[in-house]
Amino acid sequence: MNYHILTLFPQMIMDGLNNSILGRAMEKGLISADAVNIRDFSQDKHNHVDDYPYGGGAGMVMQAGPVVSAYEDLAARLGKRPRVIYMTPQGQVFSQKIAEELAKEEDLVFLCGHYEGIDERALDLIVTDYLSIGDYVLTGGELPAMVMIDCISRLVPGVLNNDESAEFESFHDNLLEYPQYTRPEVFQGIRVPQVLLNGDHKKIDVWRREQSIRRTIKRRPELMEDACLTEAEQKFADSVFREQETLRRSSYQVISLDLFQTLADVNARIPEIWKEILGEHYTDRRARAGAEAIVSAYPKVLKKSFSEDGFCDMEEIYRRCAREALRITGFGNGSFSVSEEKMVRVILENHSLAPLYEDTVSALAELGTHFRLVLSSDSSPLMAEGVLKRLQEAGITFEKVFLSDELKAYKNGPDRRFFSAVCTELGVKPEEILHIGDSLSDISGASKSGIHSCLINRDYRPYKGKTQPDYRINGLRELVTLLRPLCKSFS
Ligand code: ADE
Repeated sequence: MNYHILTLFPQMIMDGLNNSILGRAMEKGLISADAVNIRDFSQDKHNHVDDYPYGGGAGMVMQAGPVVSAYEDLAARLGKRPRVIYMTPQGQVFSQKIAEELAKEEDLVFLCGHYEGIDERALDLIVTDYLSIGDYVLTGGELPAMVMIDCISRLVPGVLNNDESAEFESFHDNLLEYPQYTRPEVFQGIRVPQVLLNGDHKKIDVWRREQSIRRTIKRRPELMEDACLTEAEQKFADSVFREQETLRRSSYQVISLDLFQTLADVNARIPEIWKEILGEHYTDRRARAGAEAIVSAYPKVLKKSFSEDGFCDMEEIYRRCAREALRITGFGNGSFSVSEEKMVRVILENHSLAPLYEDTVSALAELGTHFRLVLSSDSSPLMAEGVLKRLQEAGITFEKVFLSDELKAYKNGPDRRFFSAVCTELGVKPEEILHIGDSLSDISGASKSGIHSCLINRDYRPYKGKTQPDYRINGLRELVTLLRPLCKSFS
């Protein structure tokens, strides 16, 4: 590809193009750029190339003579008459598609105007394309020409090496590029999304596509009309559009947060929990099986206690879970015994010891400057105590802490008392609250009370609930990003 730039500032062009990837491509002979100084074709002894406009008006106009002569001289040297692109805000707006079309040419001429423009007769005689780089006015056509040359050159075979070509993805399928991260893994308390660290390329591909879709909808929704999506991706896109619409109509004042697996990670305590329960019989496999059994028993036990008892406290809930887990795993049936009471105590105590997620403090600190923060958890004071203390030490406090054991009601209880109490105590309407949590109880319970919900799915597990959340996130930083449009003074 050979570029010929007709300009009054040839040095500006050569200084701009002779660097980095384009500089390397020129050295390799893949592209060439020759800047032709229009002033060299001036037709007066003072080297003037501009004059006053006929009919009056501000500024000067570039004369037709030097411009046409510069082009004719070039055409004679080349032995052909290449396309001439005039840089003007009155042109068609340059795009990737136009770049692809222009990249097929062997020679391209860029005509750069200055002052108030170029005598129309010169344009009529030589210009084939009128292109703009956007709806704003610059002092001259040199920067637009360099922008277009850069973009077209990337498409010339060999200009980008393999690594750099990956960048082609930018407008792939008409979607914007997904977010990229590099080391360090944690920067100012913000962790690289977990999904990128696990080496599961299928999950990574899905996540990246979803991020591209999210980003395109948020930043350039008009591109979505021509986006190429699979059926599943279209469904995802529809849900993101719904999220945007819900957010646009929202009036949130209060952010209500679930505690475990939302702010603090009880799963991180699984080895400690099961080492204490199983003692010398501990193995990683048994710990995993035990934890899975508790998790699978929990929703069933909770549901049964709604229907049979109305309410029973967390200690009793976990006692029933422990009983069920022992049945499922068969621990204690064979050569060793496991105490149900010990299981309950250890599980409750370890909730209190659950570490905060790395994004918890920074996200809550930011959200707390714009919203009233409350905690809404199905737990007992003993379970919550340690985590609340650590949050407080990090400067995070809640306006109010709602615990099921104190309210004698669960988040997803059929009487809806939990979230009614939240509304009443805070003096807000349900639609002024957004509740964040990881479980079906959070989504269904909030929704039953008319409260919008956001599913936080830190482990990228499939969500099987019937009630759909209004929003979905994989970490609390995403919540900050999601709510940013509602916070006019966010940094
Ligand atoms: N010359 C001045 N402004 C311009 C723009 N936006 N695009 C192309 N050429 C220009």
